[in-house]
Amino acid sequence: MLIVKTVKELKQTAVEVKAKGLKVGMVPTMGALHEGHLSLIKKARQENDVVFVSIFVNPVQFNNPDDLKKYPRTLDEDVAFIGDYADYVFAPSVEEVFPTQPSEQYHYGKVEMVMEGASRPGHFNGVGVIVRRLLDWVQPDKAYFGEKDYQQIAVIRELVRQCNIQSEIVPCPIVRELNGLAMSSRNRLLTPHQFETAAQIHRILEESKSQKDVPEIKAFVESEIAKIPEFKLDYFEIAEDATLQTVHSLAEADGVMGFITVYVGEVRLIDNIRYK
Ligand code: PAF
Repeated sequence: MLIVKTVKELKQTAVEVKAKGLKVGMVPTMGALHEGHLSLIKKARQENDVVFVSIFVNPVQFNNPDDLKKYPRTLDEDVAFIGDYADYVFAPSVEEVFPTQPSEQYHYGKVEMVMEGASRPGHFNGVGVIVRRLLDWVQPDKAYFGEKDYQQIAVIRELVRQCNIQSEIVPCPIVRELNGLAMSSRNRLLTPHQFETAAQIHRILEESKSQKDVPEIKAFVESEIAKIPEFKLDYFEIAEDATLQTVHSLAEADGVMGFITVYVGEVRLIDNIRYK
């Protein structure tokens, strides 16, 4: 595996690979890699001839400067963890990606107005800025994203549609810790006690499946979360899977999911569950 630091080298490498008629898969990440990322990289490896992984903590998608400062950065460890599953790791500096302050503005319509979009103003614009650049530079046949960030995938699909990007967006299932907690780079910021407590998020969501309908599910999840002193609920929404718009009854849509964000101490964790 080769580490690429500059955009020029990245573009040149991608052009050379594609000129040989090879299929290219790309896995954009912010590093602090875990088995969830590795599942994306392995899928990319299975479905393509050449795999690019990007590792870049994208400052423009953080609406909270403290969150950006604390975000784990573990490049050497990440590179060792990826090993030969990828052919190229793009690990640029901030100046390389943003020689000037980016000014692009993306509007994704209704999918960005709820949940993460509502709770983290500017976040999805920042995601669009970096994902558009990465996909432009590499022009992969397929790009892989984890379903823990389910709304992010909806936003990226809309970005790809609007910008006429040819890459196929491949969603990949959530990978969980043994205790049920959704794998996340942010889990590294949890104390061992918080890590165990955080597993209650998935337990509560699983148990909520036995509730009758949306009002009961909402009441159950909100009251169970409130029982745990280390938790502070940011939001719990029940929404149609395709549009991410709130539903008030399970009968309202063919696919219905629950989306939750909880602060465990200072650490903001997200997860989701399918009801139908
Ligand atoms: O999901 C992430 O890790 C990031 O939002 C992404 C897609 C790599 C863009 O920075």
